Amino acid sequence: MKLPKEVTIKEVGPRDGLQNETKFVATADKVDWINLLSLSGLKYIEVSSFVHPKWIPSLADSLEVFKQIKRQHGVTYGALIPNEKGLERALEANIDEAAIFMSASETHNQKNINKSIDSTFPVLHNVAQAALSANKTVRGYVSTVFGCPYEGKVDTESIIHVSEKLFEMGIQELSLGDTIGVANPKQVELLLEILLKRFPADKLALHFHDTRGTALANMLTAMEMGITTFDSAAGGLGGCPYAPGASGNVATDDVVYMLEEMNIHTGVDQDKLFAATSFIQQKMDRALPSHNLQARLGAVIRS
Ligand code: HMG
Ligand code: MG
Repeated sequence: MKLPKEVTIKEVGPRDGLQNETKFVATADKVDWINLLSLSGLKYIEVSSFVHPKWIPSLADSLEVFKQIKRQHGVTYGALIPNEKGLERALEANIDEAAIFMSASETHNQKNINKSIDSTFPVLHNVAQAALSANKTVRGYVSTVFGCPYEGKVDTESIIHVSEKLFEMGIQELSLGDTIGVANPKQVELLLEILLKRFPADKLALHFHDTRGTALANMLTAMEMGITTFDSAAGGLGGCPYAPGASGNVATDDVVYMLEEMNIHTGVDQDKLFAATSFIQQKMDRALPSHNLQARLGAVIRS
């Protein structure tokens, strides 16, 4: 296996993880959780989103969360932003990075952000330009890359078209989303073979949801193809409320365990991450999907 020596993990749990939860996690608990994550060695935390609070009620307190967290030097605190109205609020929150997002499939784009793909481009262009002028870094997401809950298979040309448009807007990194967790390693290999002819590996991240248990295998394939940045969510929380059947992101705890055991450096301290994930599990009142978390908790109970 040809694998990298180091991998960057982008923690999206406080945003992707909580956006799909019906339970509203108290602002103070979100803040405490993000503060614990900030101490774990993670270098990027997607804190929340500045979408319409009616669309995502569980993240309606994004401004407050940003104001209350204790920022650690060297950690980038990002937020998901759909339009200029969202960016205004995000700048007030003093985000470090703006994450703009859209889909490669028309129906998901429409259901998720209430616009066609074509009419999304000028909106995100303005957000990216304004964020860059405010000295923020900008990340782009393209969703439904490996399958759409409404349309099924997604045209590779559409993925390329949306990705190129996002790079033209000035994004520094593009995260390719398996929104509903349908990808398999062969599909990852075939798609990356095409995309890596157009975009450098160090500008791409992969964002796997683990709905069908294939996320770690997909990651391994992507690493063999030269990808070194991955999104994940502590505990395996996550999902898109506008993608029926979507469940959690691959669990940060499982990713870090696998990589560190393989001598691939993540910079994340597993005990500190465990403290953060155990904390949020208690607040969710249910067992979270992370295998590593449950194994560790089982070991604690038995000892
Ligand atoms: P809209 O209703 O079309 O918005 O929603 P609009 O522009 O027509 O404005 C309607 C009203 O909303 C106006 O207020 C605006 O000011 C207000 P009024 O004048 O009527 O009083 N408004 C806002 N208020 C607060 N914040 C804003 C905002 N924008 C407009 N930002 C919109 C369009 C994009 C806002 C809506 O569809 C939305 O919020 N969608 C977000 C849905 C979402 O967050 N989905 C999950 C994230 S994506 C994801 O999970 C995938 C990812 O993880 C990758 C993967 O897994 O593939 C990233
Ligand atoms: Mg997602």
